[in-house]
Amino acid sequence: MKQPLTITKLKKMKQSGEPISVLTAYDYPSAKLAEEAGIDVILVGDSLGNVVLGYDTTIPVTLNDMVYHSRAVARGAANTFIVTDLPFMTYRLGQETTLRNAARLLQEGYAHAVKLEGGAEIAGEVAACVRAGIPVMGHIGLTPQSVHQLGGYKVQGKLEQEAKKLIEDAKALEEAGAFAIVLELVTEPLAEAISSQLSIPTIGIGAGRGCDGQVLVYHDILQYASPYREKRFVKTYADIGTTVRTAIGAYVSDVKSRAFPQEEHAFPMEQEVIRQLYGGNSAEEGRNSPLESEKEAGFQ
Ligand code: KIV
Repeated sequence: MKQPLTITKLKKMKQSGEPISVLTAYDYPSAKLAEEAGIDVILVGDSLGNVVLGYDTTIPVTLNDMVYHSRAVARGAANTFIVTDLPFMTYRLGQETTLRNAARLLQEGYAHAVKLEGGAEIAGEVAACVRAGIPVMGHIGLTPQSVHQLGGYKVQGKLEQEAKKLIEDAKALEEAGAFAIVLELVTEPLAEAISSQLSIPTIGIGAGRGCDGQVLVYHDILQYASPYREKRFVKTYADIGTTVRTAIGAYVSDVKSRAFPQEEHAFPMEQEVIRQLYGGNSAEEGRNSPLESEKEAGFQ
């Protein structure tokens, strides 16, 4: 049986040039399908705030939300390496708080690792987690938890000073012991430069072709009612949204026209019981015995 990857294997994949595939998942079915499709790593991203819970930003997402979804993902993908996001302000309040909250994601959310947004300023917290035996994935560039500080969802590192800062941040995270770093919405040449200067893998989203792996959001690649599917960096692999909408529309129309349910969807009753209820012959007589019908329907 397939075993989850380890952080050692992920680093080896960088060394051997094998690209790392990462996809977000937020519940049992999305995790199960991602695992069956052979994904290397599942990220239980706090993007669940946007694509599952319908918030405008990831800021309202709580630690309890992350634990709840991470647990469901772990049930669906027991053989896949799972990284779960520490949401807004569950770190940066001191190492003890960070450790306590990261521990919950592993103990209660069954994650193998946690992800934190930020650069050199959170290196101390990253190092504390690593010292405590909690693997950490970093996340720099566009960090959605800081969207208001950044002034919107914009490409990062376009200017020299910004680019230099991102390179320093990546190195600080590596030094603190992070096993990988997400680079979100940074220019392709900068992502390439960062990737070549680190010994740990970079996982890009909107960061071009030079990263060691790629991550995308489940609902985006499947066009599953995602508000972000039109983004330049997203590639659509299926249009589940249209399929689901069409199927639900057909169900609504069947209910309205009484085309559903049909006889095969209904449960018959024993003739004897019907006779006892109403007396005399029943219109049901002549059909399969209830027992046979139920066996056919898979209920016995
Ligand atoms: O929350 C998330 O899904 C993420 C990815 C976009 C990297 O952090």
